[in-house]
Order: sequence, then C-alpha cells, then structure tokens
Amino acid sequence: MPTSFEIRGRDAAARLGRFATDHGTVTTPTLLPVLNPNIDYISAREMRQRFGTEMVITNSYVIRKSERLREAALAEGVHKLIDWDGPVMTDSGTFQMYVYGKVSVAPEEIVAFQRDIGVDVGTILDIFSTPDRTHAEAREDMEETLARARRATEIKGPMALAATVQGGVHPDLRTECASRYAEMAADFHPIGGVVPLMERQMWATLADVIVASKQGLDPSRPVHLFGAGHPQMFAFAALLGCDFFDSSSYAKYAKDGRMMFEDGTRHLADLGENPCACEVCSRHTPAELRSLPEKERERALGLHNLAVSFAEIRRVREAIRAGRLWELATARCKTHPALMDGLRRALDHAAWIETLEPVSKPSAFFHTGASSARRPEALRARQRLLAHWSPRGRDVFLLPAPAQKPVGEAYAELLPRLAGRDVVPAARSAFGPVPFALDGTYPFAQSVEPAQLDVETRQRLDDFLQDFAGQHGVRVVDWNGGDMLETLHPEQKAEPEDALAERARAIADYQFGAGAGDALLEGKVEIRASQNTGKIRNVSAGGEHVLSLRAEDGLFTLKIAGARRLHKAFPFPRMRVVVAADSVPFNREGKNAFAQFVEKWDPTLRPGDECLLVDWSDNLVACGQMHLAPSELGRFRKGLAVHVREGVGPMTAPSKA
Ligand code: GUN
Ligand code: ZN
Repeated sequence: MPTSFEIRGRDAAARLGRFATDHGTVTTPTLLPVLNPNIDYISAREMRQRFGTEMVITNSYVIRKSERLREAALAEGVHKLIDWDGPVMTDSGTFQMYVYGKVSVAPEEIVAFQRDIGVDVGTILDIFSTPDRTHAEAREDMEETLARARRATEIKGPMALAATVQGGVHPDLRTECASRYAEMAADFHPIGGVVPLMERQMWATLADVIVASKQGLDPSRPVHLFGAGHPQMFAFAALLGCDFFDSSSYAKYAKDGRMMFEDGTRHLADLGENPCACEVCSRHTPAELRSLPEKERERALGLHNLAVSFAEIRRVREAIRAGRLWELATARCKTHPALMDGLRRALDHAAWIETLEPVSKPSAFFHTGASSARRPEALRARQRLLAHWSPRGRDVFLLPAPAQKPVGEAYAELLPRLAGRDVVPAARSAFGPVPFALDGTYPFAQSVEPAQLDVETRQRLDDFLQDFAGQHGVRVVDWNGGDMLETLHPEQKAEPEDALAERARAIADYQFGAGAGDALLEGKVEIRASQNTGKIRNVSAGGEHVLSLRAEDGLFTLKIAGARRLHKAFPFPRMRVVVAADSVPFNREGKNAFAQFVEKWDPTLRPGDECLLVDWSDNLVACGQMHLAPSELGRFRKGLAVHVREGVGPMTAPSKA
C-alpha cells in the first residue's frame, strides 16, 4: 500500500485529514520539520516526544551527494539513517537547483534513489518557476515538470509520488498543471515555486496560486505548500486547503537569532521579555538566552520555534474541528497588512470556498469586521435568502437589529400586533434581513455581531436589501417603532397559518430550496415543540413523520417519509446522489454510502446538506447527510461519502426460517 487520504472534518477549504502510510498515520493539517541529514541538533525522535511531530521531511539530493550518507541510506534505508520509524518525505534537489542554479542528478535518478532508500513520499525533480517567469517561460517549465512527473510515475515503485504544481504566478497554468496531474498516478501534490512569494510577503498572489492549483487538483490527494514554515501563515494557507507544511525556517531562524511567533518574528536581541510559554521561554529570560554559548542558544531557539509552530498547527486543527478557522485566520492575517491583502484575496474566492463549506458549524459565526460579511457562510445565507426562501406576505417589515437573540423573542411584544397581517417581519443583521421564521437557524441564530457595524458592511447590506426586494417583488419597509404598522396594513392575510407551521415551511424552503416546504407539509400538519423552549422538535404531515429539527443549528434532519416527498416534488438530479447497484442493498438497510459507489450527484449539494440516495432509475434508496463536497465525489475512492440516516428498507421481506 502506498498511502491513502481521508477527510474527517472540514472548515472553509481546509480539511482535517488522515494520511495513512506504511510507517504510520498522520493527522492533517500538519507540519513536517526539515531534518538536515548532516547537522541535526534536534533529532526527529526528540521532536516527536516534545511536539508530537508525526512525519518529517529530509532531502534525498543532500543524502545522495554524500558518499557516506548515500551508502548508509542504500544499505539500511532512510528511516534508519535519520533514526525515525514514522513516515518520511524527501525532496529532490529542485530547491538546490533554484538556489545554486544547477544540480548534478538526472530527474529519473533522484526518483529511483528515493524509491531505493525506502521513503514514504518522494518528490519529482520539478522545475522551480520563479515569479518573474513570463507566461511562455512558465509554460515551458511546467511542460518539463509534467513530463518528468509522467516518467516518475513509471519508476516510483511502491513509493508515494509527490508531483509538484508549478506555473509561476499564472493562475491558468497552475490550474492546467494541476488538472493534468489529476489524470496521472501521483499521490501527493506540493504547490511549488512559492518561496519567493512568501519571502516578499506577496500573500494575495499566493492566495491566487493556491486556489488556482486546488481548483485543478484531484481533491482526494493531500496538498503540501512547499517551503511554508512560518506559524503566522499556517491558518491562512490551511483555510485555502493546504494540508502539509514544511519547515526548515525553525532552524534557519534560530541560527540568525530570530524567534518565530504566531503573530510575527522577533529578534532575540530586541526582546526585553519572552512573550511565550514554551519550555525554553518559561525557563529563560531573553538576557539568559543571549548569554548562552552559540550552539546552545541556536538549539534553544530552534526548540522555541518548533514549539510555537506545532502549537499553531494544533490550534489550526482545533479551529477546523470547532468551525472557527475563519476567525483564527482572520486574527493571524490582522498581524500584518500584507497578510490582510492575502485574506481579502482569499475572500475574492469565496464562491469557490462556499462549495466546500459545511452548511453549519459547531461554533457561532463571529462578525469581526468588514471581511466577515464576505465569508462563504454569509454569501450562502444571502443566496439562500434570495433563491430558496420566499416571503409569504406583501411587505417585509424590517426592524432594527435587537441586542438579544433570537430576534423573534426580542420583538415578542410586537408579534400580536402583526398577527394575521399580510407582512413578513424580519430584523436587520450583518447577514441581511433575518425573517423571524429563520431566527433559530444557522447562521442567523448562531452568530454574534457588534452593535455598531462598519461602513462597508452597512453598504453591502443596503445593496442586498435592494436585490432582496427586487427578487421577491416586495417592499422592504423600515419600521420606525411607531404606529405605522396598524395604518399600513390593516388587511388580513387570506388564510393565516399556524405560526409553527409557517416557521417549519420557511426553514424547509431556506434549507432545501423553493417549494420544499409545501411538499413536506402537505396534508394535516402536526408539530411537536419543546415544552421548555417552544422550539420545533418534530414535524408530521398527513400522518407521516417527515422532519426533525436539530437543536444545534436549527436545520432539519430529513426522515424517510420527508425524503419521499422531496423525491416526488423535485426532478432528478436535484438533491440526489446516485449510488452504484452494488451499494443499493446496503443503503436501503440504512448503511452509509462510501465514496467508491457514488456515480452521479447534484452539484449544488454541500457538505452537511441532507440528500436523497437513489439508484440509476431514480428509485429512492435512502436519505442521508453529505460528508463530502460535490467536487470530491467521484474522486475519493474510499471513505465515507454520505452518512445515511434512514433507508427505504430491504428489497424483499426477509423469509421466515
Ligand atoms: N522547496 C521549496 N520550493 C520547492 C519547489 O518548488 N519544488 C521542490 N521540489 N522543492 C521545493
Ligand atoms: Zn518560547
């Protein structure tokens, strides 16, 4: 087995992944410390013990150049050479080529050498395209890199092959290179040629390069950002979908007396106190560190740099678990103006990230400034307010954002005055108008915003209100708190609906799309609500239990009777995931759907969305919840694709023995 990669969790374009190798499993995003096989004053074992290091990277070109190291590696393998039994990645000499202008090894030789010394992930000798390469030059480099990768796939043997995406600063070339790799037998994709972008703080260009590469790559393979080793940018790069980082910076910085922090770099010479809780910093003042002998000081600073880097990597993984990576990345990007340019550029790609974002998250959405309203979750909320949900009334009454949530409760005393009137009450929020019926639903309820919104967000909201009124053909009436309510709309609604049923209908439309509420609630509607909170728990219609409302995110879980109704109401392929015939009997019994059995799907489904499993004749098989994103289906060959909630039952009744 070479390697495999599975997605366990996600946030933005980031993946919490499990990368399995013959030498153990790695949780991503992760950092591979660079081991220099010539000088190692901090061993891989010590890194594992102190920082939880799971995988390391070293350089096969450096090993091969030294007769002593080469012979030892060939005789006993790379793991023995660096005294490490975990997964090992090696680089190929490309970077030496970039720094020194030439290398004395043929592309095939270095791949064969990595294979022969038993590395887990070996890298092709790609051509490093610097940012100044013109489009034509970068294309030439890319073609050579692709040709080398193709030849490498033939000689790699059992080794996993890292095929580097090049293409310079030209997004079209990055995407082309990446998508041509998708058809090759590579296992792992570094994004290369980015060190000069990071050195020059060109974070916006880097965002474009990462996104363009990701858009072409096979999403079932891990992505590495070559040469990225500063904790200040891990959250930013992980947000855009980078799974691996590598750091020789910890050692290089230590050599120059520089200390890395998650908010920047400081020179030991300039420090009065240590703003860090690592072992080194909690035991020594900067003055003490300065007075250490050179080698000891270098080791101490190396340990500090690794401690801070691994702490940040753990924070990134934890932020993905909690659904707080945007908040973390925003905080980190605010530590440098050039990183803010990077964050803004990342937000220019919000429509792409939205296709990967889960439909709800374990943590509340925090509005922390103008950039928040551009996040994919906010974009999706506005899109669904326009295209999925629709107001059942002539006018939308827009109330000021209340200090308390849910908004319906905050305006409880107003509700009787609205009863039966042909108006839809909504409250202002940083997302846009929040209809009262959606005031328990993600992200409207699970969010926190400042009392005073910034000018940019207010402008965005004004623009959105215009779209909203136009799209729905309603007037949006700003309510001034006076008695205009009574005078504006004395006429009664034709058939006032039960408030809970109206709420269920609105949530269903918002979640599943226009018309879903009517289909799901056809027949006599019975709603069970919590005695304590009054919140909807279960929805039955026509005597069938069709929906359950989740307390965490105020979104519905589909029951099989509800799935039948949506299946009937929505034409193929809407909400569908088509599974192979082999999978059908299992899914009918309620077993999960695995990636290798998914054959077609509605591309508008998102991770966390409820979906309908069907066979190729569009017979309903089960209902479930999307684990993967649409771009990942059909690419992953193993692992969970759809978490099945309920099957339609076995094909034939089991015969009695
Ligand atoms: N290390 C830093 N950048 C690169 C790159 O573009 N390619 C390879 N192989 N190694 C690198
Ligand atoms: Zn420290």
